[in-house]
Order: sequence, then C-alpha cells, then structure tokens
Amino acid sequence: MRIADRMAFIQPFHVMALLARARELEAAGRSIIHMEIGEPDFASPQPVIDAGIKALSEGYTHYTPATGLPALRERIAAFYLDRYGVKLAPGRVIITPGASVGLQLALAVLVNAGDKVLMADPGYPCNRNFVYLLNAEPVGIPVDATSGYQPSLEQVEQHWSPAVAALLLASPSNPTGTLLQQATIRRLFEYVSAQGGSLIVDEIYHGLTYGVEVGTALAVSDGLFVINSFSKYFGMTGWRLGWMVVPPDYVQDIDKLAQNLFLAAPTMAQHAAIAAFSEENIAILETRRHEFRKRRDFLLPALRELGFDIPATPEGAFYLYADCSRFSEDSYAFSNQLLEEAGVAITPGVDFGSNRPERHVRFAYTTSLENLREGVRRLGEYLNP
Ligand SMILES: Cc1ncc(COP(=O)(O)O)c(C=O)c1O
Repeated sequence: MRIADRMAFIQPFHVMALLARARELEAAGRSIIHMEIGEPDFASPQPVIDAGIKALSEGYTHYTPATGLPALRERIAAFYLDRYGVKLAPGRVIITPGASVGLQLALAVLVNAGDKVLMADPGYPCNRNFVYLLNAEPVGIPVDATSGYQPSLEQVEQHWSPAVAALLLASPSNPTGTLLQQATIRRLFEYVSAQGGSLIVDEIYHGLTYGVEVGTALAVSDGLFVINSFSKYFGMTGWRLGWMVVPPDYVQDIDKLAQNLFLAAPTMAQHAAIAAFSEENIAILETRRHEFRKRRDFLLPALRELGFDIPATPEGAFYLYADCSRFSEDSYAFSNQLLEEAGVAITPGVDFGSNRPERHVRFAYTTSLENLREGVRRLGEYLNP
C-alpha cells in the first residue's frame, strides 16, 4: 500500500477508542457519565432549525459564493460591532465549513513546507496535524498554570527562529478553558509582526465565558487572523459552519483557496446562521451560557475537593484540565480505569500534546448538572472510598 510520509505524523484522537468502549459498555446495559465530549449537549436552538428548514423549502440548495453569503458576512461584521465595539469591513469575513477549515486556510496562506508554527502545549490536537499536512513543523510551547496555560511573550521569544511562520493561539483554550489577556495578545502580536511572522487567534469558544469581559483579538489590529465558528456558543456543531476574519491584504488569496478547496460552505447552514444572531436566539444562547457557568461552578470545586489539582481557574469554554498525578502517573490508563470501574468517561492528556500528558486529564461539562453530580459521586466512591 502506498501512503504519504506525512501520515506517519498524524495521530487519531485517543479519546475515540475510549468513547467506543463507553458505547460498548452502554450497549451492554452499563450507565456511563460522559465528561469526554467536546460539544454542547444542547440541540441547535429552534430559531436556527426553523431558518434551516425554511431555506431548504425555499430552494436554497445551490452553491453560495466561495467566501460565503454576503448577508451572513454582513451579519457577522455587525455582530463584532454590537458585541465588541469593533468596526469591520464585511469583505474581511470569510465563511468556512467550521473553524477546522478556517484554521487550515489561514495556515495554508501563511506557511511554507519546512516552516515552523508555534502553538501552546497542551492545545487543540488538530492544530499540529494541520501543520503536518503542509509539510511544516508544529512546535509546542509547554505552558502551565503560571501563565494561565497560555504562551507568554518570553516563551514565544525563546521559541522563535527565522523558520517560524506563525504563532497560533486559542482563547478560551481547549483543553484548559483559560483566557488570554488583551494586553498579552497585543504584546504577542507586536513581537510576532516585528519578526515578520503572523498571528492566528482561535476564538471558537468566545461567547462561552463566565463572569469576565472578553474582547476580540481583532480590536488589537487588522493585521491578524481570527478564527471562529457556529459550533460552540451557537450550538451548531453538525451544521459545519464557521468563519474567519482576515487581514484585508489576504482576502483574495483566501477566496482563491476557498474556491479550490471546498467551493462554498453549506448553503442551508449559512441561511440558518443568519437567524443565529436574532435577539430571540441570542437570549436562548445566553440562558445556555448561564447553565454552563452553573456546571463549572459546581464541577471545579468538586474536582478539587476530590484531589484533582486545577491550579488556574478556567473562565471559558466547557473544559477543566486537571492534574491527576495524586491518583496516577499514567492518565491514559487512569481514564480507562475510571471508565471501566467507575462508569465515568473523561479525556486523557495524551490527546493534547506532549507536555506532561501522563499527569493530566480533561473533564468536559457538556452534560447536565444532574449527571455531573452523579459523576462526581462515582469518582468520590472510586477514588476516596
Ligand atoms: C479549539 C478548537 N478549534 C477548532 C475546533 C473545530 O471546530 P469546528 O470545525 O466544529 O468549528 C474545535 C473543536 O472542538 C476546537 O476545540
């Protein structure tokens, strides 16, 4: 069998094996509390579903322009003004099939074969694989609680070299739920630009922040790339829709790539997404945000009490990244053990990089408060009998 060399670098999600085992146990009648799943448990809100159905029955089943429906690009630009006070030319907003494709487009216009891309470790697992696809090299910056699990300017300086094309940040972060301060983004942008590199900021968990005001990186400069999506705050994972905001000089190149790589994002989803910004829909999303906050406020102290170390308080997303070394030095075996013996599914650290993954696990609070309570009860019984 012929297979490209790059495939040797590309890893599957380890949690998928765990999820498959969880489903097997459930099929055999076991009850499993799922805290491994990285998407909202809520279905897409009704106004979005209604708008999607309407678009289909009105015959919106053809391609849109590669950069997306003009009405949606305008709606997103207006959202930045409403929510963040940032004025944006709608022409800089590119609609993509999820943030996944936005990340790939940004990297594809910036990165040459052999270049390096800096990113936090632990971080979102797909990022390093996107870089491998370009025959470039992902470089993890080992982050810890001292900098809120985000790369500091000092670390970026230490890891910089002429081969680095870009720095990729995520705020709030997956798996740690921690944020970057606006001042830090500014300092990082200034440094990276001065070196001739580019900054990409993944804001996919924006909207899901609890008790803090969060600005967009777009307020810092027009010269950076911002990636976002309808998947998380908007609860539309299955519609496969996201967007990116690109520096004005890159619009044409991104358009060219979009035309070639996917022609256009799903049309029905784009029509539905316009309704995602209605007052009625945002009110539903805000209620959900409040629910996520209640879950975090329950789970964070409960896990700490059980003996998990979570040194930096996560202020966003729906994840808690916990040091489990008090219980095990092998978080992969530990996650499997918790599944088999306690009926609780979580994600082992190995999915997020190579910075002490064996000491860490990720808990996702993408299940009801009632389930979380039961999960904590089971963990307590198993770990501290
Ligand atoms: C940090 C981060 N970026 C991007 C994505 C991709 O999301 P989507 O393609 O559904 O928009 C995810 C999904 O979990 C994520 O956690």
